[in-house]
Amino acid sequence: MLTTLKLQNMKQSNEKIAMVTAYDYPSAKQAEAATADMILVGDSLGMVVLGYESTTEVTVDDMIHHAKAVRRGAKDTFLVVDMPFMSYYSGFEKAIENATKIFQQTNAQALKLEGGSQEVVDVTKRLVVGGIPVVSHLGLTPQMVNVFGGFKVQANDKQAIKQIIDDAKKLENAGATALVLECIPKEIGKIVTDSISIPTIGIGAGLDCDGQVLVYHDILQYGQDWFPKFVKNYANFNDIGIGALSKYVEDVKSESFPKEEHTYEIKDKGILPK
Ligand code: KIV
Repeated sequence: MLTTLKLQNMKQSNEKIAMVTAYDYPSAKQAEAATADMILVGDSLGMVVLGYESTTEVTVDDMIHHAKAVRRGAKDTFLVVDMPFMSYYSGFEKAIENATKIFQQTNAQALKLEGGSQEVVDVTKRLVVGGIPVVSHLGLTPQMVNVFGGFKVQANDKQAIKQIIDDAKKLENAGATALVLECIPKEIGKIVTDSISIPTIGIGAGLDCDGQVLVYHDILQYGQDWFPKFVKNYANFNDIGIGALSKYVEDVKSESFPKEEHTYEIKDKGILPK
């Protein structure tokens, strides 16, 4: 299994890091079989699995429930679990308590925290000192969607560019293991990647990041009909799934299913009630 040390070596040796999200046992099994370096149980599960409008409704217990299933499906892959909305902003001690609970109950290798505010830097520092590796997340941080006024490209003015570089350095100094960069211009993805010694994992942040992450349901077009520009669809599970389910419905209606091979039969007909 990948370790935090190997992750640093991958950056130094220019070996790209492939991360994918998973939210349950089957998606975790597939991600591990596909040899993804890292699996992220993202709080995007609120949107792609639970059907919420944003990630802000996801709770600590939701994260634990899904991450435990992912761990069962992918025992040998580096597992990162998101700390959900406000679970690390309701006081320092509560943040450490929530993080400890998620980390211990999910058997993860790291937790991911969005943002670069002083609160997040302080929590990051304490978690790392205490033995919980942290993956940071800057740029479009979806838990801030209501403050940002929508899912928009970030770090595209002088002040915001300076801020993201400063935040990345602060998080590195606080001991973060890696940094997710979401939905920023590729030039800024490169500048941030070159400014820090920990690996960057981009999602809509250009090819120069040290790795890439995409959401499982976006890669496979599974339940989603709209995709951001940074997504590449590698399959169409919507068509495959709806096609197969429609055929099943048709077969039931036309009595083409079940056939003999799907049916049990009693051997001794004599025991049947007359
Ligand atoms: O929640 C999530 O899936 C994420 C990725 C998009 C990086 O944070």
